[in-house]
Amino acid sequence: MLILSIDTSCDETAVAIGQGRKILANEVYSQILLHQQWGGVVPSIAKKAHEEKIDLVLETCLKKFYRGRGALFSSQLKKDFFAACFRQINYIAVTQGPGLAIALEVGIKKAKELAEKYHKKLLAINHLEGHIYSVFAQNSQGNPSHKIEFPLLAVIVSGGHTELILMKKHLHYEILGSTLDDAVGEALDKAAKTLGLGYPGGPIIEKLSQEVKNVDTYHFPRPMWQDQSLNFSYSGLKTAFYYYLRHLNEAEKNQQLKQLASSFQEAAFAVLIKKTQTAIKQTKVKTIVVGGGVIANKRLRLLLRLMAKKNNLKLIFPPYYYLVGDNAAMIAVAAYFHARQHRFISDINKLDRLPRMSL
Ligand code: KG4
Ligand code: ZN
Repeated sequence: MLILSIDTSCDETAVAIGQGRKILANEVYSQILLHQQWGGVVPSIAKKAHEEKIDLVLETCLKKFYRGRGALFSSQLKKDFFAACFRQINYIAVTQGPGLAIALEVGIKKAKELAEKYHKKLLAINHLEGHIYSVFAQNSQGNPSHKIEFPLLAVIVSGGHTELILMKKHLHYEILGSTLDDAVGEALDKAAKTLGLGYPGGPIIEKLSQEVKNVDTYHFPRPMWQDQSLNFSYSGLKTAFYYYLRHLNEAEKNQQLKQLASSFQEAAFAVLIKKTQTAIKQTKVKTIVVGGGVIANKRLRLLLRLMAKKNNLKLIFPPYYYLVGDNAAMIAVAAYFHARQHRFISDINKLDRLPRMSL
């Protein structure tokens, strides 16, 4: 079963082709450079860039697909490359939400257009499912080959979401806890902005923290530490950080930049680890999977590994780096499990973006 997937939920224009859990082709155009000067993603710029790039990203992805499977193409290839590719593809999947409405629309429009032109069924996928299923993706050779065992705890740490989810079977999500305000990635981005650093802030904060070996000089507040729920709140940390910085003059701030960044990161991750550990105790799961852009962070990976070891858990991250940030490969993997359950869109004219789509 071959699925072509599209994701335009935020600032990456992404197309991929998957076969089951295997990723046969993947292409991403990142708009980061376009948004950097504004200190965050500007929806209208994102929409325009998606519109400008989607056909090129699609074509490049199909060419990669062809390179991997050229021998299987028919002799009609020269006449119409796209038609030859789509003869091999069974279904089209697209991210329906959550994300920026006007950005999501671009991917959905393209998916509908292709579905109509090449007579394919459509699958609408939740971007968060994508981040969860990114951990099960394989390369074209089927590696890594680990099995998916339920129940499992899925942790999403991205720019827009911080969620703890219990999965007892495929496509079945019980939200145990989520952020009440800012997500971890968003908090890191805002901290970096407050420090006058660039966008996205996560990787910059990580680098500065590494340079001082992840010290926790300031021990900023750990929001919701005592709270019995599994919810998070990062806006309190952001505010405490902001007020602390107001006491410092420019010279002090610059001198302490790395310690400030590192202490912020430690506070943010400490809560994440504590709540994840509580969720594990409550659910007694043996497997934990973690996806989303923030899992690129080596410090967070280490903290999670230590916690998994202590609790004797199997811990799974996205197996390849390109699966960490936003991409369409993860959408293809999630779509495969949708297709297995025949969850196709019955009336494609009714398919619309859901910017606040939940799991
Ligand atoms: O999953 P993602 O690419 O997009 C969303 O769906 O939100 O996540 C983007 C987030 C941003 O907040 C970015 O700062 C953060 O992931 N991020 C990192 C790192 N790389 C990206 N955070 C911490 N450390 C990193 N190395
Ligand atoms: Zn994402």
